Amino acid sequence: AQTVANEPHRPQFHFTPKAHWMNDPNGMVFLNGTYHLFFQHNPGGTTWGPMHWGHATSKDMMHWEEQPIALYPDSLGTIFSGSAVVDKNNTAGFGKNALVAIYTCHNKAIEDAKTGLHQYQGIAYSTDEGKTWTKYEKNPVLPNPGIWDFRDPKVRWYEAEKKWVMTLATKDRITFYSSPNLKQWTKESEFGEKLGAHGGVWECPDLFPLDYNGQKKWVLLVSINPGGPNGGSATQYFVGHFDGKTFIPDNPVTRWVDYGTDNYAGVTFSNLGDRQVFMGWMSNWQYAERVPTQNWRSANTLPRELGLAKSGNDFILTSTPVKEMATIINKASVLQNITVNTSYDISDKIQAYNGKYVVDLEVDGQKDIALHLTNAKGDLLVIGYEKAGNAFYIDRTKAGEVNFEPGFAKKMTAPRNAQGNINLKIIIDAASAEVFADSGRTVLTAIFFPQEPLNLLHIKATAPLKVLKLKHAGIATAIK
Ligand code: FRU
Repeated sequence: AQTVANEPHRPQFHFTPKAHWMNDPNGMVFLNGTYHLFFQHNPGGTTWGPMHWGHATSKDMMHWEEQPIALYPDSLGTIFSGSAVVDKNNTAGFGKNALVAIYTCHNKAIEDAKTGLHQYQGIAYSTDEGKTWTKYEKNPVLPNPGIWDFRDPKVRWYEAEKKWVMTLATKDRITFYSSPNLKQWTKESEFGEKLGAHGGVWECPDLFPLDYNGQKKWVLLVSINPGGPNGGSATQYFVGHFDGKTFIPDNPVTRWVDYGTDNYAGVTFSNLGDRQVFMGWMSNWQYAERVPTQNWRSANTLPRELGLAKSGNDFILTSTPVKEMATIINKASVLQNITVNTSYDISDKIQAYNGKYVVDLEVDGQKDIALHLTNAKGDLLVIGYEKAGNAFYIDRTKAGEVNFEPGFAKKMTAPRNAQGNINLKIIIDAASAEVFADSGRTVLTAIFFPQEPLNLLHIKATAPLKVLKLKHAGIATAIK
């Protein structure tokens, strides 16, 4: 079993594979009371390699149980990222309520031949809730038209026209396809060649509706590597209109799902009704293969509920931990009206949580505030807000092991997108910090590798500051 003592950087309530390499979450889908998570997995090592779809299941998105590998490479190639749907109407003929996975086949031999035809889409189905999978015998269902990067299909049912819509990353843009049966695909439109961030290749898109006070908007997520706001890989989004064929953003401005360095390739669960629950890969291509964990590499972010909020006339995306998280949060304590002159120590309260806890705080006004998370070894992670730049930040420069990659030691920032009192929700799990500011309007996620848990906490102020409320609680171990 996984223990904190043997593996100090093993997250205790985020999904990690027991062993070996993981990257993107794939095929996240809810079926008959079970959440399924598939993931890019190399069972042969702790770095990226021939991709399989690993599999894990959960009843609450908190306690995950790893299952046998779901999809293995075949004669068409290795299994890159993609999605899964519940085929309620048996459109594909694999059976009513069959699970159908739509993924990219990556063919190394063709890649080496440099024809640009090495990525194409295949499907596989399961009629036993994901335990066993059969690849469709006529794969690929979407051959490559001559585009080097042609991958990561995210498919959803478009009820208005009773058809499937595929959102596909095609190099520097998104291409939408549609299908009546998951087998024949027709190109509908392209988006984004001249919009959004283009510091790297576009990957792992997702398109889904969200409701704002009865108004239906469509959100398009696009991961990009490199070119993220704090370096390396990150996920941008657009809010707009989709009519079954074409996506039109309300505003061409580039916004980021998460400004931290460690939330990539995230997409939403399928078949969750109106809920849009997102999980990302909690790492960054800049250093993912070199992080100092031994038996495995990478975790996912917490599952996050996505919503919409207004910023002026624009819609912005909000992310907050899903309500199911309450099942693993221990009883909370509340401190009120704390005056911080220069430093306020709450280590005696935090220590017992042993590096796994949540802190919710509300500041009176909009003032500089810094939370110093430390340990007896002197490792220091700083999370805060700076009025000068009107930005939140995480500084992991001194948070333990940083030298495995030159760019890892850094202070990452995120512009504030709200007025009034600042609130912060900070979730720490051994080797990660997830910061939800202003009720999820700005998010930062960062991994770090301390020598021992960061179980001491000081609040620092540059000018006297009042924290109206500070709620803290330990979080239970959820891994099996
Ligand atoms: C994103 C990605 C995808 C691809 C997968 C391969 O992290 O590069 O575009 O399908 O990883 O593992």
